[in-house]
Amino acid sequence: MILDVDGIHSYYGKSHILQGLELQVADGALVTVLGRNGAGKSTTLKTIAGVIAPRSGSICFNGQHIAGLPAHRIAAMGVCLVPEHRGIFKLLTVEENLKLGLRRASPWQLDDIYRIFPRLKERRRNGGGQLSGGEQQMLAIGRALMNHPRLLMLDEPVEGLAPVIVEEIVAQLKLIKQSGVAIVLVEQNLEVCTQLADRHIVIEQGRVVFEGSNAEFLADDGVKDRYLGVGV
Ligand SMILES: Nc1ncnc2c1ncn2[C@@H]1O[C@H](COP(=O)(O)OP(=O)(O)OP(=O)(O)O)[C@@H](O)[C@H]1O
Ligand SMILES: [Mg+2]
Repeated sequence: MILDVDGIHSYYGKSHILQGLELQVADGALVTVLGRNGAGKSTTLKTIAGVIAPRSGSICFNGQHIAGLPAHRIAAMGVCLVPEHRGIFKLLTVEENLKLGLRRASPWQLDDIYRIFPRLKERRRNGGGQLSGGEQQMLAIGRALMNHPRLLMLDEPVEGLAPVIVEEIVAQLKLIKQSGVAIVLVEQNLEVCTQLADRHIVIEQGRVVFEGSNAEFLADDGVKDRYLGVGV
């Protein structure tokens, strides 16, 4: 088990958002976190990454307790969050953005990223601000890989992207997963989720209301109807 989140409670001020949330990720597995708008998906990722500290509960990453540690320490242990708005530096070039992520020991060096995302190589002298949405997402994922993640967390990586770009990113996520990186994916596109995931959790008001394998999720029309508003 690379990640074991047990009964966490997270707040924004007085708003009680995560209410005893549980999440387990096996080594090398891909787990999606599903749920309606405002369910607490992004808050879950932010809590694991240490951007916000849970008020109670435990988070165990690779055998170590990380709840309450500062975000930079958690990142240095190999937990990498690609946030919703990607965090690309607009005034730096693609290559400069990538180099910012580089850790010498990472198995993913500049050439590896350019091999996975050839578009980034073509665009390497362009500014981050000149990239399309899809290219920005590729850059954010590439930069995260250069930081040698053991656990990669992606918040809606294909939102708003054209279908052909979505396919390209899904194909690359499959390769990243095959290389052994565990992935937690927040994504509204169920087609994408069921192509990639080993397991899914569905959350509502900061609690897990469904947990199961991809096959169990696919077979369960009720859960999609009740919690995701997908008429089946
Ligand atoms: N910085 C914040 N301060 C106060 N409340 C917040 C903050 N960020 C989120 N919230 C609230 O916390 C709840 C959970 O938000 P969160 O962003 O985790 O939801 P989400 O499942 O990611 O939703 P979406 O699908 O819209 O991205 C929502 O009610 C939201 O309004
Ligand atoms: Mg969100």
